[in-house]
Amino acid sequence: MMSAYSPGACDNGEQSRVLEKILKKYKGSEGALIPVLQEAQEALGYLSEETLKKIAKATGRTLAQVYGVATFYAQFRLEPIGKHLVRICHGTACHVAGADDIDAAVCGHLGLPEEGGTTGDMEFTVEKVVCVGACSLAPIMIVDGVAHGRLNPDKARSVIKSYQKSENERSGGGARSGKRAQKKK
Ligand code: FES
Repeated sequence: MMSAYSPGACDNGEQSRVLEKILKKYKGSEGALIPVLQEAQEALGYLSEETLKKIAKATGRTLAQVYGVATFYAQFRLEPIGKHLVRICHGTACHVAGADDIDAAVCGHLGLPEEGGTTGDMEFTVEKVVCVGACSLAPIMIVDGVAHGRLNPDKARSVIKSYQKSENERSGGGARSGKRAQKKK
């Protein structure tokens, strides 16, 4: 399986090699555009214009066609994401259990609008997702692939703070602020 995105770990050469591997895997497969886009995003974090151009060329489509598919589906991101990806579940069970309050707590703590987005320091991206298949743990959020369930606003803030704390410890610096926010488009 393709390795998951690791911010800062890939230079452009490495990203190109990763993408080439994906394109090779699907070479000659009709209708493979969506899996290619999914794997490219999984490996690279988002779909840059450069990535879309390479996918268009390799799959024999125009850039407009590939761009059209990438913008049609909400799952695809065309902007870079922060170092930590926070997915807050808004499926029915989580919605009933208070997903909006979790959103408000997390986004409020990070200085983001409630619809999510990326902090100005590129540390956190917050996005809403549909059911992640762990409804018994509702409300739930996934941070960098790790599930945190049965949340309340305080617990959700504590989870985010624990990621901020470990970042601070790694950098040896003081408290960081994510207040300068970029609104998600
Ligand atoms: S609705 Fe959130 S895990 Fe199912």
